[in-house]
Amino acid sequence: MKEQLLTLKNKALDELQKIKDVTDIESFKVAYLGKKGQLTALMKQIGKSPPDIRPEIGRLANTIKATISKAIEEKRSEIIASGAGKKEEIIDITLPGRKPLRGHVHPVNTVIREVCSIFSHMGFNVITGPDVELDYYNFEALNLPKDHPARDMQDTFYVSSNVVLRTHTSPIQVRVMEKTPPPVSIIAPGSVYRRDSDVSHTPMFHQVEGLLVDNDVTFGDLKGILTAFIHQMFGSGTKIRFRPSFFPFTEPSAEVDIQCVMCKGKGCRICSHTGWLEILGSGMVDPEVFRSVDYDTELYSGFAFGMGIERIAMLKYGIDDIQLFFKNDIMFLTQF
Ligand code: DAH
Repeated sequence: MKEQLLTLKNKALDELQKIKDVTDIESFKVAYLGKKGQLTALMKQIGKSPPDIRPEIGRLANTIKATISKAIEEKRSEIIASGAGKKEEIIDITLPGRKPLRGHVHPVNTVIREVCSIFSHMGFNVITGPDVELDYYNFEALNLPKDHPARDMQDTFYVSSNVVLRTHTSPIQVRVMEKTPPPVSIIAPGSVYRRDSDVSHTPMFHQVEGLLVDNDVTFGDLKGILTAFIHQMFGSGTKIRFRPSFFPFTEPSAEVDIQCVMCKGKGCRICSHTGWLEILGSGMVDPEVFRSVDYDTELYSGFAFGMGIERIAMLKYGIDDIQLFFKNDIMFLTQF
């Protein structure tokens, strides 16, 4: 009996040393220590051995059982630590996939579409012009004299001495009038470029230009159309004020303010405590501009206006940093 036990112990320990996989350890354990295991079977027979040696054999059997159990646990840790015998990674094909982040219409485009849609419904045609523009259309034909500060190298990106990146969308007015006899009514969105960059300026931004020319167009028409636009864009209760201003291509000229959307006119940081926010420039087309496109200044009159899109988007959505529009942060973009 004693011999049988010792032989079994050696056999078990030999076998255990050869194991390389954790799952094989489990079957090994069952084969020796399980209910029907080899050691268990031997131990059941201890009762049949002579009573004088029975306690000794019992103790031996228990020691062997403990030795094998300990060896099993050591082997298990050894295999796990070596990283071997790991089960192959299971891929659960029923799990839902990771969805790629969806694109989103940029808030600048949303505002451009909205502005163009409002004016389209009032009969204006949406039109575009080139970003790379001749000095003639950007300045000359718009009555911007040679010594005008906007023509300075400091403020304008020059491609060559007579080609610039357009500094505003106003040249589109000239391009349209040159090709089309009156009446014209256009709304023209696009990118514009200026050598400017800080918290409230970016070297590229967007504008929308408007122009209406016909017989007997008056300043009253300008006020009516722009008021209708602002009421649709910012709400029908929005208070508006027309303030005299100057632009070389309009006479008279006016800047249009709306009551501050943040503080409702009480005065805050956004409106510099004035209660008002400037949102566009406008005026009656200067006869000098008509002359450059051969429009009869006795027969026709018209109004024009231009607005910065980022500025309108900032006011409409309460955004306080213009740079956010150009970072393409999906968290920012999906808010609108
Ligand atoms: N072009 C002007 C600018 O960039 C905005 C502007 C003012 C456009 C008055 C107009 C206008 O058509 O009539 O600041």
